[in-house]
Formats: sequence, C-alpha cells, structure tokens
Amino acid sequence: MNPLGLYIHWPFCLSKCPYCDFNSHVREKIDHKRWGDALLKELEHAAQNQKNRHLVSVFFGGGTPSLMEPETVAILLEKTKSFFHTTEDMEVTLEANPSTVEAGRFKGFFDAGINRLSLGIQSLNDEALVFLGRRHSARDALKALEVATTYFSRFSFDLIYARPHQTPASWKTELLDALTFAKGHLSLYQLTIEPQTVFATRALRGEKMALEDDLAALLYEMTEELMQDAGLDAYEVSNYAQPSQECRHNLLYWNFENYIGIGPGAHGRISSKEKKWATLRYKAPETWLEAVETQGHGLQTSQLLSPLERLHELTLMGLRLTKGLEVKRILEETGLELHQAYPHQHLDRLEKEGLLERVDTHLIPTFEGRLRLNALTAYLLNNLGDK
Ligand SMILES: C[S@@+](CC[C@H](N)C(=O)[O-])C[C@H]1O[C@@H](n2cnc3c(N)ncnc32)[C@H](O)[C@@H]1O
Ligand code: SF4
Repeated sequence: MNPLGLYIHWPFCLSKCPYCDFNSHVREKIDHKRWGDALLKELEHAAQNQKNRHLVSVFFGGGTPSLMEPETVAILLEKTKSFFHTTEDMEVTLEANPSTVEAGRFKGFFDAGINRLSLGIQSLNDEALVFLGRRHSARDALKALEVATTYFSRFSFDLIYARPHQTPASWKTELLDALTFAKGHLSLYQLTIEPQTVFATRALRGEKMALEDDLAALLYEMTEELMQDAGLDAYEVSNYAQPSQECRHNLLYWNFENYIGIGPGAHGRISSKEKKWATLRYKAPETWLEAVETQGHGLQTSQLLSPLERLHELTLMGLRLTKGLEVKRILEETGLELHQAYPHQHLDRLEKEGLLERVDTHLIPTFEGRLRLNALTAYLLNNLGDK
C-alpha cells in the first residue's frame, strides 16, 4: 500500500503578514475546545476508509499551529495513532512562529508527540522583519531557535530572501549567520508578491516590492553554492537538507503520493485501486466549523482525477525536486509511457535549451531549469500527450 501522510490545518494567526496568501485569519477569540473537537471529528471521518494504513507523517500547518493548545495537539496525535498503523519513527512536524510566548510552549508540543519543528524565522535582520510585518525581532528568533534545539533533534526554519533592495553581499552575510543556527534543514523562499495581499497593493501603487529578476537569479545561484558548502543540498526548489533530513511530509506532495488533509481549506490526495481523488475542505474557518458540527466533516469536494489531471499534477510537483520526476511514476499514475505523456520533440527541445536532462529513471531539471521552473513546467503542461 502507498505511504500515507496526514495534514492538519490551523487557520489562525495573531496578525496577517502583508506578503502572505495562505488560508490564515485573525480572530479576537478562539474557542480551542470547540476547534479541537471539530478537528477530532473530521479526523475520525477522514480516517474511516483508510484505517490501519501505514501513516508515515503528520504535519500541523497553518496559519500558526504553534498557537494551538499543546493538549489539542496531544489528543489529535493520540487519536491518529489509534486510527492508523504508525511506527516510532513517524515524522510529526509543527509549524511555529518564534514569538516568545510560543517558544515557551515548545516543551508542551514535544511532550504531545511533535518530533520536528519548522520555525518561521523569515529573517535575522530587524529591519527586514519590520518590512515583512513580522511580530518578532531577530532576538526573539534567536531565542526560539535555542529553545527549539533543546527539544527537537529534527528542526528547520524558513527565511524569505530576494527582498527589495537586498544586495548579494547582505544576503550572504544573513545566510551565513543563519547557517550557524541551522541543524539539518532550511527552507529559503524568494519573496513572491501574491495577488490580493498588502504587498500586491503596494506594488500596484508603484512601490518597489520585489527584487529585479536577474538579481533574484543571482541570489538563487549564490544560495545554492553557500548551502552546498555547508552540506545542505537543494532537494527541492526552495528546500535544502543534509542527507536524511529532508521533510518526509513535503516529499509526499512532491512525489504526488497519498495524504489526508483536514481543517479549513486543506487538500488531500487519496488513491484506491487504480483511482485517485482530490479532496478539498471548506476554506472559510467558520463555514468549515459549522459543516463539521452539523454533518461530521467539512468536505467541500471530492473529485476523481482523470489520467490527464494526474499527469498535470505529477509534472508540476515532480519537477520541483532536484532529483527530478521519476519516470516510472508516470506509468503508475496515468498508464502512459514517457513518450505518450511528453512527446519526444518537446523533451528534445527542453534538453537542447539546457533546461532538462533525461536519464533512464528520471526527468531532471538542470540548474538553469530550476531557475526557470515556471516556464519549464508551463511548456510541458501545454504540450502534454499528443496535442
Ligand atoms: C504557512 S507559511 C507560515 C508558517 C508560520 N505561520 C510563519 O509565518 O512562520 C510557511 C512559509 O511560507 C513562506 N511564505 C509565505 N508567503 C510567502 C511569500 N509571499 N513569499 C515567500 N515566502 C512566503 C514563509 O517563509 C513561511 O514561513
Ligand atoms: S506568514 Fe505565517 S504568521 Fe504570517 S499570516 Fe501567513 S501564516 Fe500567518
């Protein structure tokens, strides 16, 4: 049976960061008991047809799941273990914000069963943190990192770079500084201006909100070199890790494997026999809550994916990986041979342009290909099958 992951979405934050378009909301008051009960109810419903499957990872994402009560996390994990087949080494990640209050709760999360923490540091520079609208200072971040290392042998943190006016020299200093606190994993995201965010509005008003493309490409190249020197290789477009420290949960997404998603707006992908379904939960927190309380789940849609849709998603996800897209997965997901999925002339063209490499087992984006990943995948997706 395929490996299975579980994603649990906590949709609340203390404030909305101006760059963020995740399903995150600010509420004055949260009834933790009510939310915990609803998540438990949805978990039970989602697990119904999947009972005793081998669960390899659980991921509490958000929003800011470090605002959850550790008791809520504990009971969700306890129930999870009663529904699925799990082993000691199951990866259990929680996303956390480094404010002091939450850092004080890290022990509670550890006791609840969290064994991997992903910290949203974003920058170790106070000015940048203000620009990013973060509630924490560089000092808070360092404190949170210290507490995190006390409890979690596996932990990662996120930084956002390619900020407007950032120079290669200042990014190098910031990254080298960050590397002194890194353990085995870092997520380094280039700032993207997402539609309908405060940053998008400011950009529309003519403010410079992002770095020029060629400078961003230069920073990307520099990042890869510095990370490699530090022994953390890029295994995905924005993710770097020492061998065996990769995030197993996110690898399920990139390998287009199976995962259950519960909580507002959570996505899931579940296969049964030859078929695969995409599930989506109601996005608005209160709509989801009401649906769970009245009907036992907040499922908005469960869509059977066609072979072409499966190929589309496999392409989009698989090419994000440095090791590339595994050719045998194409046959498994779609019943198509490589040349039926991607006609030769298109692969030849990408190869000639130096964006893609073909080996027996994988289609591998080159470094240049990863730099221009959106264009590379768009080209393949526009030319799927024998169109
Ligand atoms: C679900 S979010 C945040 C988790 C946590 N609430 C936090 O803010 O630390 C996961 C990560 O995506 C990254 N991110 C979100 N929006 C982004 C954007 N517009 N550009 C670049 N990175 C972004 C941030 O690094 C963030 O930590
Ligand atoms: S970046 Fe994190 S803390 Fe900020 S709004 Fe998004 S989810 Fe919330």
